[in-house]
Amino acid sequence: MRNRTFLFMPGNNPGMLASAQCLGADVVIFDLEDAVAQTEKDAARILVSHALTELRPQGVGVTVRINGLDTPYWQADMEAVVAAGTDFVMVPKIESADQMLQVTTGIESARQKCGSTATVKALAIIETPLGLENAHAIASASKILHGILLGAEDFTASMGAQRTADGAEIAYARSRLLTACKAAGVLAIDTPFPFVADLERLEKDAAFAVQLGFDGKAVISPHHVHRVNQAFMPAPEKVNWAQRVMAAARKASEEGKGAVSLDGMMIDLPIIKRAERILLLADA
Ligand code: GLV
Ligand code: MG
Repeated sequence: MRNRTFLFMPGNNPGMLASAQCLGADVVIFDLEDAVAQTEKDAARILVSHALTELRPQGVGVTVRINGLDTPYWQADMEAVVAAGTDFVMVPKIESADQMLQVTTGIESARQKCGSTATVKALAIIETPLGLENAHAIASASKILHGILLGAEDFTASMGAQRTADGAEIAYARSRLLTACKAAGVLAIDTPFPFVADLERLEKDAAFAVQLGFDGKAVISPHHVHRVNQAFMPAPEKVNWAQRVMAAARKASEEGKGAVSLDGMMIDLPIIKRAERILLLADA
């Protein structure tokens, strides 16, 4: 499964749920949390469960963002969506390793309750100052954690920061979350770009996420999907360079040489790693 784009879709909008597989995202996220008003929580849960069983999107990863652990809804959400069948359960506002363990136990008991044998993994959102401080403990707390998303809207709100298109206010959060995820070996997923109509700056924001090393990015508009997918695809000249690096490295190893040079650049292990990642992204 690719993981370039994670598209949020309101869990109370039947039309959008039905179109989930046609929008080009690698993963769709049916949202039961902030897109749904308190008065509609139960109805949305039923609608999303129905979409999972009756309109199961094909060829895309399926996630449901349930309500937070501090709400009265999360257990009912988790049981319903695990029973209906989802690849991932996404849990917002995770702040500690203990909460991550609560999620793991919750998924396991939901699976047992409905007799599901399917694999269900977790995605966490870090979007509070405390969550960010505990990022590595969270990232390494559970074997079923697949990746972590930075939620910059809630994060900047709780920091008292402004949210701008250049993202200077989230530079530290991005880096901190990235290192935590890479150290723990889970996917690092960048925050959505909130200025929906500003496609030029969306492209810059996505290119910056790629430059930093994010594995994918969340999006909140179908108009952003294609552009973000493209940002995560390496340019043909990069793929060509990576292929030449791998060929030079193979040749050096056949000839028993430790290091070689290509275009005047020393090819050593970090360069080979970089080339491998480019080829992996191009292949995906
Ligand atoms: C996402 O949940 C965010 O708060 O940005
Ligand atoms: Mg949020």
